[in-house]
Amino acid sequence: MNETTGGIIWLTGLSGAGKTTIAQALSATLQSQGRRVELLDGDVIRTHLSKGLGFSKEDRDTNVRRVGFVCHLLARNGVVAIAALISPYRAVRQEVRDLGSPFVEVYVQAPLAVCEQRDVKGLYQKARAGLIQGFTGIDDPYEPPLHPEVICHTDRETVTESVAKILAVLL
Ligand code: ADX
Repeated sequence: MNETTGGIIWLTGLSGAGKTTIAQALSATLQSQGRRVELLDGDVIRTHLSKGLGFSKEDRDTNVRRVGFVCHLLARNGVVAIAALISPYRAVRQEVRDLGSPFVEVYVQAPLAVCEQRDVKGLYQKARAGLIQGFTGIDDPYEPPLHPEVICHTDRETVTESVAKILAVLL
């Protein structure tokens, strides 16, 4: 993924790990360098492209496949497509990698306890109270990447540091 070609930067991790925050900062930095960027964020995607999908394994996989396909279309037109999705299942992340666009997998990592303490949307509390079933990390699986290009430890790195680590592998 050099200065003129497109590609996919795929941010995976638990809810509250910091995917959106890093994706927005990364997007702004790349745009300031004159690159064409599109950000596909899980919460936004689920109100449009994936409206109506739930959180079963099948629906999550469908969500990831859809976003992966759109990222691939963008990437082949020179855009840097940044996806920020929990994307909890390894196999379907691999499918997106296999579409053939330059692909950088970023594991946005923070301990579950930290994500739960942040609880930006109040959803962990609801999951613990049994008001939401099948919440990732609580009673639904998350399969961490085995060989991500980048790991961002958001409990001990600044956003700027995390973005710098991602930029370093693009060059
Ligand atoms: S994914 O699993 O299909 O990749 P995605 O990133 O699109 O998930 O959406 C996750 C967001 O949906 C979370 O940040 C949270 O706001 C919301 N959400 C609602 N229900 C759940 C759930 N059961 N598990 C995880 N996230 C949920």
